[in-house]
Amino acid sequence: MKKILSAVIAVAFISIASSAIAAPPPASVVLPAKTGNVTFNHKAHQGQGCKKCHGEGAPGKIELNKDKAHALCVDCHKEKAKGPQDAKTCNVCHKK
Ligand code: HEC
Ligand code: HEC
Ligand code: HEC
Repeated sequence: MKKILSAVIAVAFISIASSAIAAPPPASVVLPAKTGNVTFNHKAHQGQGCKKCHGEGAPGKIELNKDKAHALCVDCHKEKAKGPQDAKTCNVCHKK
């Protein structure tokens, strides 16, 4: 009886632990836009540190709109002098 009970407790613990683990990061994400979808290479960006884009806490969905996205992407590229740095060259990011 004791054995069964501890097995049940162990299973309960494992399921709690795994539900607390965040979803694995995607390799790439398609961000839809009227001006052409943006295919974001997530894997290539992970080295920047999750918090840079996701903020504090477990990384999850980011609410992006035009201004927020343009600021997020372009500001960092300018800072690092890498990736698309000109917000006016739309088709570097937006592909039709
Ligand atoms: C550095 C990459 C980048 C560049 C350059 C860029 N965009 Fe974006 N844009 C994005 C991202 C990322 C989003 C967010 C898309 C989403 O959240 O679905 C976005 C969102 C938008 C949206 C809102 C999406 C919608 O359908 O409502 C519009 C409109 C837009 N961009 C227009 C432009 C125009 C026009 C230009 C050029 C003057 C431009 N963008 C240049 C990356 C870029
Ligand atoms: C340069 C910016 C950036 C960095 C750095 C980054 N992410 Fe993301 N991440 C995004 C964007 C943009 C999306 C897609 C938009 C969304 O899902 O909200 C995304 C989506 C995700 C998703 C899917 C969310 C969902 O619910 O669909 C997970 C999970 C995730 N990232 C985890 C991570 C982890 C873990 C790290 C650090 C190792 C990380 N990200 C670093 C920008 C970034
Ligand atoms: C925290 C910094 C940071 C943010 C935020 C960021 N990037 Fe980048 N991005 C980089 C760096 C650094 C590189 C150069 C990577 C390399 O050379 O390996 C890069 C490269 C790129 C490239 C060219 C290379 C490739 O493989 O795709 C594109 C396109 C790009 N980023 C799109 C985006 C978009 C779209 C966003 C916003 C959703 C974004 N980035 C947000 C740092 C960032």
